[in-house]
Amino acid sequence: MDPQYSRDQFNNFQDFNSERSGPPEIRPEEITFEELIGTGSFGKVYKGRCRQKAVAVKLLHKQNYDAATLTAFRKEVHLMSKIYHPNICLFMGACTIPGKCVIVTELVPKGNLETLLHDQKMQLPLYLRMRMARDAALGINWLHESNPVFVHRDIKSSNLLVDENMRVKICDFGLSALKQKHKMLKDQSSAKGTPLYMAPEVMMFKEFNESSDVYSFGIVLWEILTRKEPFSHHRELEKFREAVCVKHERPIIPADCLESLRKLIEKCWDKDPQHRPSFKDIISSLDHIIIDAAISDLRGREFWKKNFITEQEVPSEAFIDALCNWAKAPTRNQCDKASLEYLNIKCLKAVLADSSKNEGSIVNIEKFGKILEFFGPMNETTAPGTTSIMDTIREVLSHKWFHGDLDTTEAASRLNGQPIGSFLIRFSSTNAGCFTISQVVGDNNSIKHQRVSRQGPKFIYQNILYNSLIEIVSKSAGGNNGDLPLNSNLGVPNYKFLALFCNVSSSSDTY
Ligand SMILES: Nc1ncnc2c1ncn2[C@@H]1O[C@H](COP(=O)(O)OP(=O)(O)OP(=O)(O)O)[C@@H](O)[C@H]1O
Ligand SMILES: [Mg+2]
Repeated sequence: MDPQYSRDQFNNFQDFNSERSGPPEIRPEEITFEELIGTGSFGKVYKGRCRQKAVAVKLLHKQNYDAATLTAFRKEVHLMSKIYHPNICLFMGACTIPGKCVIVTELVPKGNLETLLHDQKMQLPLYLRMRMARDAALGINWLHESNPVFVHRDIKSSNLLVDENMRVKICDFGLSALKQKHKMLKDQSSAKGTPLYMAPEVMMFKEFNESSDVYSFGIVLWEILTRKEPFSHHRELEKFREAVCVKHERPIIPADCLESLRKLIEKCWDKDPQHRPSFKDIISSLDHIIIDAAISDLRGREFWKKNFITEQEVPSEAFIDALCNWAKAPTRNQCDKASLEYLNIKCLKAVLADSSKNEGSIVNIEKFGKILEFFGPMNETTAPGTTSIMDTIREVLSHKWFHGDLDTTEAASRLNGQPIGSFLIRFSSTNAGCFTISQVVGDNNSIKHQRVSRQGPKFIYQNILYNSLIEIVSKSAGGNNGDLPLNSNLGVPNYKFLALFCNVSSSSDTY
């Protein structure tokens, strides 16, 4: 926007409130209903088809509307038609003919977040859940920053939808209220929304504003953290109301919760609406929390926050340059192609970068967190006698027996037909930071997989503490449980990593 225009002037010529910019009306015969997806308080949601496109169709329970309800329905439709944001479920149109009232929105493939969270079979690492929380916060912030402000008023996990990339979109503006910024709203009839997520001031019919969405979001954050139902021990509405509004009862935050997340949840559900953060602040807090959840290494967190605070995926080149700067090592363009530093960079890229995406080679925060658990901790490289994480990675990769990411089946296939005693070392696929030694221990390709666990920077193998994987291979005597000593000559070569160490001096070699 040109700064010479005031906000009011801008609003005037944008004509946001004009009825002319109303929602696209869809004729009933254009919609076909397929399967039922869910039922809520206002209607049934179906997977359907409209103008050849798969859509979600909300068919309202009541169709014999009185004039007031019909107006309310048209208001919802009108509000939805004015909101566009990647984290808000796309409103596509509606039929507002009495008796045929439906709302058509994009079909969000994985359904609602509540169902996903409570499905214990779903793998949802904390990092991913926090990223989902941030998506939801971005959507709600969009509503709160609109002029006039939208208060959603029904923020709950079943109104957060999840797409095929696990990105979250908020839906249902059924209870949204349009208001002028900074003016309080008083509910005209009775408190609406779902009681479990409802702010005390709403439950007590007091004045409320967008900070009541913040309270609801606090409960959602707790649910995202614990994957449990909030206030599940409560049965009676009156007792529940008293517990939340008078005794200020809140769900119990688990003791092992990240401190940054605990603080945010507690601030969001503060009994005093004025003490609750804005969604702008919530998003900034979640930027930090996402990093804390993805990376447990303290210096690793510090590094990511300093360089990529709002990013979860960065181009490999930018990442590697930043890490070289952090380690006070020369960057790609500064070092000799035959140098050890350049080899470090190649090795780092080999374990970290993902080139499978169209956007080119990228480094993902979650992968970086995992790599630090395997090779960390990330040292203060300026301290005397310390090795940088890049040196450590290069040293490990230079050993032919190191295979990195490999599951049990692939390990068995690489050991197939090898002589007794042959072995390889790989990342454990089940335990963060641990390694697995897979070894041929007998005839008929009998293979044993043994865990190398971690204790801070040290490694534990067969109850003995070692300083490194390399030390395990050189010193481990084996023989405890029928397994054989590790003879480095019998390491099964991993040509993918070994290739990095060939032609070090070749100038055509790119990292
Ligand atoms: N656009 C959509 N794409 C995919 N699934 C959807 C979509 N909209 C709704 N659903 C599914 O339909 C279910 C029912 O939605 P509905 O809004 O009617 O009920 P609710 O969210 O459980 O409660 P409430 O009526 O209070 O909002 C949702 O929980 C969700 O799983
Ligand atoms: Mg809903």
